[in-house]
Amino acid sequence: MDDRVIAEQIDYYRQRAGEYDDFWARSGQYALPPDQLSAWRADAREAMEAVQAWAPGGDVLELACGTGLWTQALSATASSVHAVDAAPEMIALNVARHYRSGAPSGRVNYERADLFSWAPVRDSADGVFFGYWHSHVPDELLAAFWHTVGVALRPGGTVMLVDSAPRPDAEHDDDSAFAARHERRTLRDGRRYGVVKRYWSPERLQETLAALGWGARTRTTTHGMILLADVTRSR
Ligand SMILES: C[S@@+](CC[C@H](N)C(=O)[O-])C[C@H]1O[C@@H](n2cnc3c(N)ncnc32)[C@H](O)[C@@H]1O
Repeated sequence: MDDRVIAEQIDYYRQRAGEYDDFWARSGQYALPPDQLSAWRADAREAMEAVQAWAPGGDVLELACGTGLWTQALSATASSVHAVDAAPEMIALNVARHYRSGAPSGRVNYERADLFSWAPVRDSADGVFFGYWHSHVPDELLAAFWHTVGVALRPGGTVMLVDSAPRPDAEHDDDSAFAARHERRTLRDGRRYGVVKRYWSPERLQETLAALGWGARTRTTTHGMILLADVTRSR
């Protein structure tokens, strides 16, 4: 795996941190026509409710926590959330959101780390969550990534992931020089970056995780815009 791909992906998210929430709000370059916007809002609500329903009451590890959209939901029920991200700009926004929410301080703690060279505390999590991260894991690093998840997860613990459903659309301008598993992304100021982006179908994700020793219940939200997976160890 070329380290420059991982480094560029981190750099992209560092630079994008201040505009990241446009994706959720569907503003700016992520704006949708009215019919798709109502479908997106319904699917986003459905995904959030699924995460809230999953969220275990104990210690949760959140990987690639970003600006804290999910961190907030997780911290409502978890006794602790350990939130990891490589971008300090993302972590700063996550902290700010946490304090603005008025949630008890101390329940969420943060760690800046590159997940591809990071080792979790063994058996430290009752649940592991990642939103819009799995699609950025290169195929070559997938087995190692899931091994890391397995190290962190306590026996009987569960994993949940939320991600893009498999419909590459107009929200990112694909560059034909890039293979299907990469995308070119453009920031508001026009700077362009390459990221790994793999649109997993529910079936493909289930098969792939089964081969890695995980049992997954996978589905997409009602309008097919978001992929959801509940995952447990199968061996
Ligand atoms: C698509 S965003 C998802 C953020 C958040 N989970 C959400 O759903 O709103 C991807 C996140 O992965 C982080 N990231 C990118 N490369 C990383 C790496 N190698 N290690 C850890 N975090 C990384 C970025 O900083 C960014 O916060």
